[in-house]
Amino acid sequence: MSNKTDTKRSNFSGKLGYVLAVAGSAVGLGNIWRFPYLAAKYGGGMFLLVYLILMLTFGYAMIVSETALGRRTGRGPIGAFRAFGNKLRYKFGGWINAIIPMLILPYYCTLGGWVIKYLVEYCKGSTAAMAEDTYFTGFIGSAAQTEIYFLIFAVATVAVVIFGVQKGVERVSKIMMPALIVLAVIVAIYSMSLPGAFEGVKYFLVPNFKNFSIMTVVAALGQMFYSLSIAMGILYTYGSYLKRDVDIEKTTTQIEIFDTSIAILAGLMIIPAVFAFSGGNPDALNAGPSLMFVTIPKVFESMGFGTAAGIVFFLLVFFAALTSSISLAETTVSTFQDELGWGRVKSTIATTVILVGLGTVTTLGFNALDFIKILGMGALDFFDFVTNSVMMPISALCTCLLIVYSAGLKTVGDEVKLSSKFKREKLYNFFMKYLAPICMIIILLSSVANVFGWIKM
Ligand code: PFF
Repeated sequence: MSNKTDTKRSNFSGKLGYVLAVAGSAVGLGNIWRFPYLAAKYGGGMFLLVYLILMLTFGYAMIVSETALGRRTGRGPIGAFRAFGNKLRYKFGGWINAIIPMLILPYYCTLGGWVIKYLVEYCKGSTAAMAEDTYFTGFIGSAAQTEIYFLIFAVATVAVVIFGVQKGVERVSKIMMPALIVLAVIVAIYSMSLPGAFEGVKYFLVPNFKNFSIMTVVAALGQMFYSLSIAMGILYTYGSYLKRDVDIEKTTTQIEIFDTSIAILAGLMIIPAVFAFSGGNPDALNAGPSLMFVTIPKVFESMGFGTAAGIVFFLLVFFAALTSSISLAETTVSTFQDELGWGRVKSTIATTVILVGLGTVTTLGFNALDFIKILGMGALDFFDFVTNSVMMPISALCTCLLIVYSAGLKTVGDEVKLSSKFKREKLYNFFMKYLAPICMIIILLSSVANVFGWIKM
Protein backbone atom coordinates (compact mmCIF):
# COMPACT_ATOMS: atom_id res chain seq x y z
CA MET A 1 0.00 0.00 0.00
CA SER A 2 2.73 2.39 0.77
CA ASN A 3 6.08 1.39 -0.54
CA LYS A 4 6.37 4.64 -2.43
CA THR A 5 5.50 6.94 0.41
CA ASP A 6 7.46 4.82 2.77
CA THR A 7 10.80 5.39 1.14
CA LYS A 8 10.01 9.04 0.61
CA ARG A 9 9.14 9.56 4.25
CA SER A 10 12.02 7.59 5.70
CA ASN A 11 13.73 10.19 7.70
CA PHE A 12 15.45 8.58 10.65
CA SER A 13 19.02 7.68 9.98
CA GLY A 14 18.46 4.33 11.66
CA LYS A 15 17.57 2.73 14.91
CA LEU A 16 19.46 5.18 17.08
CA GLY A 17 17.94 8.21 15.37
CA TYR A 18 14.47 6.80 15.91
CA VAL A 19 15.01 5.87 19.55
CA LEU A 20 16.47 9.28 20.32
CA ALA A 21 13.65 11.12 18.60
CA VAL A 22 10.99 9.12 20.42
CA ALA A 23 12.87 9.46 23.70
CA GLY A 24 13.11 13.22 23.15
CA SER A 25 9.35 13.36 22.77
CA ALA A 26 8.65 10.93 25.61
CA VAL A 27 10.98 12.29 28.29
CA GLY A 28 9.71 15.60 29.50
CA LEU A 29 7.62 17.25 32.16
CA GLY A 30 5.50 14.12 32.28
CA ASN A 31 8.38 12.23 33.88
CA ILE A 32 9.82 14.93 36.08
CA TRP A 33 6.82 16.99 37.10
CA ARG A 34 3.69 14.88 36.53
CA PHE A 35 4.76 11.38 37.58
CA PRO A 36 6.00 12.30 41.09
CA TYR A 37 2.93 14.35 41.98
CA LEU A 38 0.53 11.64 40.81
CA ALA A 39 2.51 8.95 42.62
CA ALA A 40 2.47 11.04 45.80
CA LYS A 41 -1.26 11.67 45.54
CA TYR A 42 -2.55 8.30 44.34
CA GLY A 43 -0.98 5.75 46.60
CA GLY A 44 2.84 5.77 46.33
CA GLY A 45 4.08 2.20 45.83
CA MET A 46 0.60 1.11 44.78
CA PHE A 47 0.60 3.69 42.03
CA LEU A 48 4.09 2.63 40.95
CA LEU A 49 3.06 -1.03 40.78
CA VAL A 50 -0.07 -0.32 38.75
CA TYR A 51 1.92 1.97 36.48
CA LEU A 52 4.56 -0.67 35.81
CA ILE A 53 1.98 -3.34 35.04
CA LEU A 54 0.10 -1.05 32.66
CA MET A 55 3.29 0.08 30.97
CA LEU A 56 4.53 -3.45 30.33
CA THR A 57 1.18 -4.65 28.99
CA PHE A 58 -0.90 -1.87 27.56
CA GLY A 59 1.89 0.59 26.95
CA TYR A 60 3.89 -2.03 25.13
CA ALA A 61 0.92 -3.04 22.95
CA MET A 62 0.07 0.57 22.13
CA ILE A 63 3.60 1.59 21.14
CA VAL A 64 3.95 -1.46 18.91
CA SER A 65 0.50 -0.89 17.35
CA GLU A 66 0.92 2.78 16.57
CA THR A 67 4.46 2.43 15.27
CA ALA A 68 3.63 -0.59 13.11
CA LEU A 69 0.50 1.00 11.64
CA GLY A 70 2.39 4.22 10.95
CA ARG A 71 5.13 2.33 9.18
CA ARG A 72 2.71 0.09 7.32
CA THR A 73 0.60 2.93 5.95
CA GLY A 74 3.36 5.53 5.72
CA ARG A 75 0.96 8.06 7.27
CA GLY A 76 0.23 10.00 10.44
CA PRO A 77 -2.86 9.04 12.49
CA ILE A 78 -5.55 10.54 10.28
CA GLY A 79 -4.11 9.03 7.11
CA ALA A 80 -3.46 5.71 8.82
CA PHE A 81 -7.12 5.37 9.88
CA ARG A 82 -8.26 6.49 6.44
CA ALA A 83 -6.11 3.84 4.81
CA PHE A 84 -8.63 1.31 6.11
CA GLY A 85 -11.87 3.03 5.13
CA ASN A 86 -13.69 6.28 4.62
CA LYS A 87 -16.53 5.85 7.08
CA LEU A 88 -17.15 8.34 9.85
CA ARG A 89 -15.65 6.05 12.47
CA TYR A 90 -12.28 6.09 10.71
CA LYS A 91 -12.36 9.87 10.48
CA PHE A 92 -13.25 10.09 14.17
CA GLY A 93 -10.46 7.70 15.18
CA GLY A 94 -7.85 9.63 13.23
CA TRP A 95 -8.94 13.08 14.31
CA ILE A 96 -9.25 12.33 18.02
CA ASN A 97 -5.62 11.20 17.93
CA ALA A 98 -4.63 14.37 16.11
CA ILE A 99 -6.56 16.82 18.31
CA ILE A 100 -5.06 15.68 21.62
CA PRO A 101 -1.60 17.22 21.01
CA MET A 102 -3.31 20.52 20.11
CA LEU A 103 -4.92 20.57 23.56
CA ILE A 104 -1.82 19.48 25.45
CA LEU A 105 0.62 21.91 23.85
CA PRO A 106 -0.89 25.09 25.39
CA TYR A 107 -0.75 23.93 28.98
CA TYR A 108 2.60 22.26 28.40
CA CYS A 109 3.91 25.74 27.58
CA THR A 110 2.34 27.18 30.74
CA LEU A 111 4.43 24.71 32.71
CA GLY A 112 7.47 25.30 30.51
CA GLY A 113 7.14 28.96 31.49
CA TRP A 114 7.29 28.03 35.19
CA VAL A 115 10.49 26.09 34.48
CA ILE A 116 12.08 29.12 32.80
CA LYS A 117 11.10 31.35 35.72
CA TYR A 118 12.82 28.97 38.15
CA LEU A 119 15.89 28.81 35.92
CA VAL A 120 16.09 32.60 35.78
CA GLU A 121 15.69 32.93 39.55
CA TYR A 122 18.42 30.37 40.26
CA CYS A 123 20.70 32.28 37.88
CA LYS A 124 19.96 35.38 39.99
CA GLY A 125 20.82 33.42 43.13
CA SER A 126 17.37 33.53 44.78
CA THR A 127 17.98 30.05 46.21
CA ALA A 128 16.88 30.79 49.78
CA ALA A 129 13.79 32.78 48.80
CA MET A 130 12.64 29.98 46.49
CA ALA A 131 12.71 27.43 49.30
CA GLU A 132 9.99 29.38 51.16
CA ASP A 133 6.54 27.77 51.17
CA THR A 134 4.88 30.85 49.77
CA TYR A 135 7.29 31.43 46.88
CA PHE A 136 5.49 29.32 44.32
CA THR A 137 2.01 30.59 45.15
CA GLY A 138 3.34 34.15 45.02
CA PHE A 139 4.72 33.53 41.55
CA ILE A 140 1.73 31.83 39.99
CA GLY A 141 -0.52 34.46 41.55
CA SER A 142 1.06 37.08 39.28
CA ALA A 143 -0.71 37.34 35.92
CA ALA A 144 2.00 39.46 34.30
CA GLN A 145 4.91 37.22 35.30
CA THR A 146 3.31 33.89 34.48
CA GLU A 147 2.07 35.18 31.12
CA ILE A 148 5.48 36.55 30.15
CA TYR A 149 7.27 33.31 30.98
CA PHE A 150 4.57 31.30 29.21
CA LEU A 151 5.08 33.43 26.09
CA ILE A 152 8.87 32.99 26.23
CA PHE A 153 8.50 29.21 26.28
CA ALA A 154 5.81 29.26 23.57
CA VAL A 155 7.94 31.49 21.32
CA ALA A 156 10.97 29.24 21.82
CA THR A 157 8.90 26.22 20.74
CA VAL A 158 7.41 27.91 17.68
CA ALA A 159 10.77 29.43 16.70
CA VAL A 160 12.39 26.01 16.59
CA VAL A 161 9.54 24.71 14.42
CA ILE A 162 9.62 27.73 12.07
CA PHE A 163 13.37 27.76 11.58
CA GLY A 164 13.44 23.98 11.25
CA VAL A 165 16.25 23.61 13.75
CA GLN A 166 14.84 20.54 15.49
CA LYS A 167 17.92 18.62 14.48
CA GLY A 168 20.08 21.12 16.34
CA VAL A 169 17.93 20.88 19.44
CA GLU A 170 18.00 17.09 19.24
CA ARG A 171 21.78 17.14 19.06
CA VAL A 172 21.94 19.28 22.19
CA SER A 173 19.47 17.07 23.98
CA LYS A 174 21.59 14.02 23.21
CA ILE A 175 24.08 15.50 25.66
CA MET A 176 21.46 16.93 27.98
CA MET A 177 19.56 13.69 28.59
CA PRO A 178 22.48 11.70 30.00
CA ALA A 179 23.41 14.79 32.02
CA LEU A 180 19.87 14.90 33.39
CA ILE A 181 20.16 11.28 34.49
CA VAL A 182 23.48 11.89 36.25
CA LEU A 183 22.18 14.93 38.10
CA ALA A 184 18.93 13.18 38.98
CA VAL A 185 20.87 10.26 40.48
CA ILE A 186 22.94 12.63 42.62
CA VAL A 187 19.94 14.59 43.83
CA ALA A 188 17.91 11.41 44.44
CA ILE A 189 20.69 9.96 46.61
CA TYR A 190 20.95 13.19 48.54
CA SER A 191 17.20 13.43 48.93
CA MET A 192 16.93 9.85 50.22
CA SER A 193 19.59 10.55 52.82
CA LEU A 194 17.69 13.44 54.42
CA PRO A 195 16.43 12.80 57.95
CA GLY A 196 12.91 11.36 57.77
CA ALA A 197 13.23 10.58 54.06
CA PHE A 198 13.21 6.82 54.53
CA GLU A 199 9.46 6.81 55.17
CA GLY A 200 9.10 8.48 51.80
CA VAL A 201 11.25 5.89 50.05
CA LYS A 202 9.06 3.21 51.57
CA TYR A 203 5.87 5.01 50.62
CA PHE A 204 7.04 5.36 47.01
CA LEU A 205 8.49 1.90 46.48
CA VAL A 206 6.45 -0.49 48.63
CA PRO A 207 2.87 -1.12 47.49
CA ASN A 208 0.28 -0.86 50.22
CA PHE A 209 -3.17 -2.15 49.30
CA LYS A 210 -4.78 0.32 51.68
CA ASN A 211 -3.76 3.00 49.20
CA PHE A 212 -5.50 1.43 46.24
CA SER A 213 -8.54 2.99 44.62
CA ILE A 214 -9.92 2.94 41.11
CA MET A 215 -8.47 6.44 40.75
CA THR A 216 -5.03 4.89 41.17
CA VAL A 217 -5.67 2.97 37.95
CA VAL A 218 -7.28 5.92 36.15
CA ALA A 219 -4.38 8.21 37.04
CA ALA A 220 -1.71 5.61 36.24
CA LEU A 221 -3.25 4.87 32.84
CA GLY A 222 -3.50 8.55 31.90
CA GLN A 223 0.07 9.06 33.06
CA MET A 224 1.28 6.13 31.00
CA PHE A 225 -0.28 7.55 27.84
CA TYR A 226 1.11 10.98 28.59
CA SER A 227 4.59 9.92 29.51
CA LEU A 228 5.14 7.53 26.61
CA SER A 229 3.51 9.96 24.14
CA ILE A 230 0.95 7.32 23.14
CA ALA A 231 -2.75 7.55 22.23
CA MET A 232 -2.14 10.93 20.64
CA GLY A 233 -1.02 10.12 17.15
CA ILE A 234 2.64 10.90 17.67
CA LEU A 235 3.94 7.38 17.20
CA TYR A 236 1.94 6.85 14.01
CA THR A 237 3.82 9.80 12.59
CA TYR A 238 7.18 8.63 13.90
CA GLY A 239 6.47 5.12 12.67
CA SER A 240 5.75 6.49 9.20
CA TYR A 241 9.33 7.74 9.07
CA LEU A 242 10.79 4.46 10.21
CA LYS A 243 12.80 2.13 8.01
CA ARG A 244 11.67 -1.44 7.56
CA ASP A 245 14.75 -3.00 9.09
CA VAL A 246 14.36 -1.36 12.50
CA ASP A 247 13.26 -3.84 15.16
CA ILE A 248 10.05 -2.37 16.60
CA GLU A 249 9.90 -4.83 19.48
CA LYS A 250 13.38 -4.00 20.71
CA THR A 251 13.12 -0.24 20.32
CA THR A 252 9.80 -0.29 22.20
CA THR A 253 11.46 -2.01 25.14
CA GLN A 254 14.35 0.46 25.12
CA ILE A 255 12.04 3.46 25.06
CA GLU A 256 9.97 2.06 27.92
CA ILE A 257 13.01 1.38 30.08
CA PHE A 258 14.47 4.81 29.45
CA ASP A 259 11.25 6.73 30.05
CA THR A 260 10.31 4.80 33.17
CA SER A 261 13.79 5.03 34.71
CA ILE A 262 13.67 8.80 34.50
CA ALA A 263 10.20 8.91 36.04
CA ILE A 264 11.28 6.68 38.94
CA LEU A 265 14.40 8.78 39.48
CA ALA A 266 12.26 11.91 39.61
CA GLY A 267 10.01 10.17 42.14
CA LEU A 268 13.07 9.35 44.26
CA MET A 269 14.21 12.96 44.10
CA ILE A 270 10.91 14.40 45.16
CA ILE A 271 8.82 12.02 47.31
CA PRO A 272 11.42 11.24 50.02
CA ALA A 273 12.06 14.98 50.25
CA VAL A 274 8.37 15.65 50.75
CA PHE A 275 8.47 13.33 53.79
CA ALA A 276 11.69 14.87 55.06
CA PHE A 277 10.37 18.42 54.91
CA SER A 278 6.77 17.82 55.98
CA GLY A 279 6.88 14.62 57.98
CA GLY A 280 4.53 12.85 55.53
CA ASN A 281 1.78 15.38 56.00
CA PRO A 282 -1.09 14.31 53.65
CA ASP A 283 -1.56 17.91 52.50
CA ALA A 284 2.00 17.95 51.21
CA LEU A 285 1.49 14.63 49.42
CA ASN A 286 -1.68 15.97 47.81
CA ALA A 287 -0.04 19.14 46.58
CA GLY A 288 -0.67 18.23 42.92
CA PRO A 289 0.90 20.24 40.09
CA SER A 290 2.89 22.45 42.47
CA LEU A 291 4.76 19.55 44.11
CA MET A 292 7.99 19.70 42.11
CA PHE A 293 8.19 23.49 42.26
CA VAL A 294 7.75 23.55 46.02
CA THR A 295 9.84 20.53 47.02
CA ILE A 296 12.88 20.70 44.75
CA PRO A 297 13.92 24.22 45.88
CA LYS A 298 13.87 23.02 49.49
CA VAL A 299 16.18 20.15 48.56
CA PHE A 300 18.57 22.49 46.74
CA GLU A 301 18.54 25.03 49.55
CA SER A 302 19.59 22.37 52.04
CA MET A 303 22.31 20.96 49.78
CA GLY A 304 24.96 23.61 50.15
CA PHE A 305 25.66 23.98 46.46
CA GLY A 306 22.01 24.61 45.76
CA THR A 307 22.33 27.53 43.38
CA ALA A 308 24.54 25.62 40.96
CA ALA A 309 22.34 22.53 41.27
CA GLY A 310 19.25 24.67 40.65
CA ILE A 311 20.68 26.25 37.52
CA VAL A 312 21.80 22.93 36.04
CA PHE A 313 18.61 21.09 37.02
CA PHE A 314 16.18 23.62 35.59
CA LEU A 315 18.30 24.01 32.45
CA LEU A 316 18.13 20.26 31.85
CA VAL A 317 14.42 20.15 32.60
CA PHE A 318 13.96 23.07 30.22
CA PHE A 319 15.60 21.10 27.41
CA ALA A 320 13.62 17.95 28.17
CA ALA A 321 10.41 20.02 28.11
CA LEU A 322 11.40 21.83 24.93
CA THR A 323 12.04 18.65 22.91
CA SER A 324 8.61 17.41 23.99
CA SER A 325 6.79 20.64 23.21
CA ILE A 326 8.49 20.80 19.82
CA SER A 327 7.16 17.36 19.01
CA LEU A 328 3.66 18.43 20.09
CA ALA A 329 3.84 21.57 17.95
CA GLU A 330 5.37 19.80 14.97
CA THR A 331 2.59 17.19 14.95
CA THR A 332 -0.07 19.88 15.07
CA VAL A 333 1.55 21.78 12.19
CA SER A 334 1.82 18.66 10.06
CA THR A 335 -1.83 17.74 10.74
CA PHE A 336 -2.91 21.10 9.32
CA GLN A 337 -0.54 20.71 6.38
CA ASP A 338 -1.53 17.17 5.49
CA GLU A 339 -5.24 17.26 6.22
CA LEU A 340 -6.30 20.80 5.43
CA GLY A 341 -3.81 21.33 2.62
CA TRP A 342 -2.45 24.50 4.24
CA GLY A 343 1.09 25.70 3.66
CA ARG A 344 3.73 25.50 6.36
CA VAL A 345 3.43 29.19 7.27
CA LYS A 346 -0.37 29.17 7.57
CA SER A 347 -0.26 25.93 9.57
CA THR A 348 2.32 27.34 11.95
CA ILE A 349 0.29 30.52 12.43
CA ALA A 350 -2.85 28.50 13.21
CA THR A 351 -0.92 26.37 15.70
CA THR A 352 0.44 29.50 17.35
CA VAL A 353 -3.02 31.07 17.62
CA ILE A 354 -4.40 27.97 19.37
CA LEU A 355 -1.30 27.78 21.54
CA VAL A 356 -1.35 31.39 22.68
CA GLY A 357 -5.15 31.50 23.08
CA LEU A 358 -5.64 28.35 25.15
CA GLY A 359 -2.25 28.74 26.84
CA THR A 360 -3.15 32.22 28.07
CA VAL A 361 -6.44 30.95 29.51
CA THR A 362 -4.50 28.19 31.31
CA THR A 363 -1.75 30.48 32.53
CA LEU A 364 -4.12 33.15 33.81
CA GLY A 365 -6.32 30.43 35.33
CA PHE A 366 -4.07 30.68 38.39
CA ASN A 367 -4.55 34.42 38.81
CA ALA A 368 -6.57 36.87 36.69
CA LEU A 369 -8.98 34.20 35.43
CA ASP A 370 -9.09 32.01 38.52
CA PHE A 371 -12.86 32.45 38.73
CA ILE A 372 -13.23 30.27 35.63
CA LYS A 373 -13.99 26.74 36.74
CA ILE A 374 -15.01 23.97 34.41
CA LEU A 375 -16.54 20.94 36.16
CA GLY A 376 -15.06 22.38 39.33
CA MET A 377 -11.53 22.42 37.90
CA GLY A 378 -9.20 25.24 36.98
CA ALA A 379 -8.11 25.46 33.32
CA LEU A 380 -4.86 23.49 33.66
CA ASP A 381 -6.46 20.66 35.60
CA PHE A 382 -9.35 20.65 33.18
CA PHE A 383 -7.23 20.36 30.01
CA ASP A 384 -5.06 17.78 31.71
CA PHE A 385 -8.09 15.76 32.77
CA VAL A 386 -9.96 15.94 29.47
CA THR A 387 -6.95 14.88 27.42
CA ASN A 388 -5.50 12.22 29.73
CA SER A 389 -8.52 10.67 31.37
CA VAL A 390 -11.18 11.04 28.67
CA MET A 391 -9.74 11.55 25.19
CA MET A 392 -6.71 9.27 25.43
CA PRO A 393 -8.69 6.20 26.56
CA ILE A 394 -11.08 6.88 23.66
CA SER A 395 -8.29 7.27 21.14
CA ALA A 396 -6.50 4.16 22.42
CA LEU A 397 -9.79 2.29 22.13
CA CYS A 398 -10.13 3.49 18.52
CA THR A 399 -6.66 2.13 17.74
CA CYS A 400 -7.57 -1.25 19.29
CA LEU A 401 -10.82 -1.43 17.34
CA LEU A 402 -9.08 -0.42 14.13
CA ILE A 403 -6.53 -3.15 14.53
CA VAL A 404 -8.83 -5.93 15.69
CA TYR A 405 -11.76 -5.27 13.31
CA SER A 406 -10.34 -3.50 10.27
CA ALA A 407 -6.61 -3.82 9.83
CA GLY A 408 -6.39 -7.24 11.45
CA LEU A 409 -3.96 -8.31 14.15
CA LYS A 410 -2.03 -10.15 11.47
CA THR A 411 -1.25 -6.92 9.64
CA VAL A 412 0.50 -5.56 12.70
CA GLY A 413 2.11 -8.94 13.36
CA ASP A 414 3.47 -9.13 9.81
CA GLU A 415 4.78 -5.58 9.98
CA VAL A 416 6.60 -6.19 13.26
CA LYS A 417 7.98 -9.49 11.96
CA LEU A 418 9.67 -7.72 9.08
CA SER A 419 12.47 -6.97 11.48
CA SER A 420 11.92 -8.98 14.66
CA LYS A 421 10.76 -12.36 15.91
CA PHE A 422 7.85 -10.72 17.75
CA LYS A 423 8.27 -12.98 20.74
CA ARG A 424 5.38 -11.41 22.56
CA GLU A 425 2.89 -11.73 19.68
CA LYS A 426 0.44 -13.99 21.56
CA LEU A 427 0.43 -11.66 24.51
CA TYR A 428 0.02 -8.70 22.20
CA ASN A 429 -2.99 -10.27 20.47
CA PHE A 430 -4.62 -11.06 23.80
CA PHE A 431 -4.23 -7.49 25.02
CA MET A 432 -5.56 -5.92 21.89
CA LYS A 433 -8.53 -8.22 21.60
CA TYR A 434 -9.77 -8.54 25.14
CA LEU A 435 -7.96 -6.73 27.86
CA ALA A 436 -7.40 -3.33 26.34
CA PRO A 437 -10.96 -2.56 25.17
CA ILE A 438 -12.56 -3.75 28.42
CA CYS A 439 -10.11 -1.87 30.63
CA MET A 440 -10.37 1.27 28.57
CA ILE A 441 -14.17 1.35 28.81
CA ILE A 442 -14.11 0.77 32.59
CA ILE A 443 -11.50 3.47 33.07
CA LEU A 444 -13.29 5.95 30.89
CA LEU A 445 -16.59 5.43 32.70
CA SER A 446 -15.05 5.65 36.15
CA SER A 447 -13.10 8.80 35.44
CA VAL A 448 -16.16 10.54 34.03
CA ALA A 449 -18.36 9.28 36.88
CA ASN A 450 -15.81 10.55 39.37
CA VAL A 451 -15.85 14.06 37.96
CA PHE A 452 -19.59 14.27 38.00
CA GLY A 453 -19.62 12.95 41.54
CA TRP A 454 -21.72 9.87 40.67
CA ILE A 455 -19.22 7.69 42.42
CA LYS A 456 -16.79 8.64 45.15
CA MET A 457 -13.29 7.30 44.81
N1 PFF B 1 5.70 12.54 26.86
C1 PFF B 1 5.86 13.92 27.21
C2 PFF B 1 6.21 14.04 28.67
O1 PFF B 1 6.20 13.02 29.37
O2 PFF B 1 6.46 15.14 29.11
C3 PFF B 1 4.64 14.72 26.90
C4 PFF B 1 4.33 14.66 25.45
C5 PFF B 1 5.22 15.17 24.56
C6 PFF B 1 3.23 14.01 25.00
C7 PFF B 1 5.02 15.08 23.23
C8 PFF B 1 3.01 13.93 23.65
C9 PFF B 1 3.92 14.44 22.79
F1 PFF B 1 3.72 14.39 21.52
